[in-house]
Amino acid sequence: MSATAISARDCARRIADAIEAHRGDVPALGAAMERALGELMRRDDLFELGAPREGNNVAVSRYLYFDGELSILLYEVPKGRPIPPHDHGTWETVSVWRGRMRHVVYERADDGARPGHAELRAIDDRVLAPGDFAIVAPPRDIHGFVALEDGTWGITVVNGPYKAERHYYRPEDGTYEIRRQRNAR
Ligand SMILES: [Fe+2]
Repeated sequence: MSATAISARDCARRIADAIEAHRGDVPALGAAMERALGELMRRDDLFELGAPREGNNVAVSRYLYFDGELSILLYEVPKGRPIPPHDHGTWETVSVWRGRMRHVVYERADDGARPGHAELRAIDDRVLAPGDFAIVAPPRDIHGFVALEDGTWGITVVNGPYKAERHYYRPEDGTYEIRRQRNAR
């Protein structure tokens, strides 16, 4: 661990302070979290931190930090198996620790009047490399991603539960399904 790397707890403390300081200011919150996570991601030993967890969308996942509300998660994103666009009802971050992923943020382009139907418009479509960071937040809290390399690992921060009923979208045919999962990822 290099001299500038920080512990998961110190990273979480800085994020918690940023959440308090920047309520309602997503760009400022994101910038503060990006700095704190950047220091955590300099560590080479993240696999040895925290505890295993069961992920919703991903195969291998660990809690780097969890205090009952704030979570910092480390997870492997299998190459070529896209995580479909989904919403959260709260903000969520995505950083890349190892590998590369394509990360797309969407907004709803329809008025939500037809149950089961949704039209998505991509508003941010980029390749995230190690150290890169993105935050999705309501009303644009829809994203999907796919690993572009084997050995791609992401880090996600979320504060508190997701909304009870989350949408998983199928942009290719303009539909969605509802899934009930309150825990992270
Ligand atoms: Fe997500």
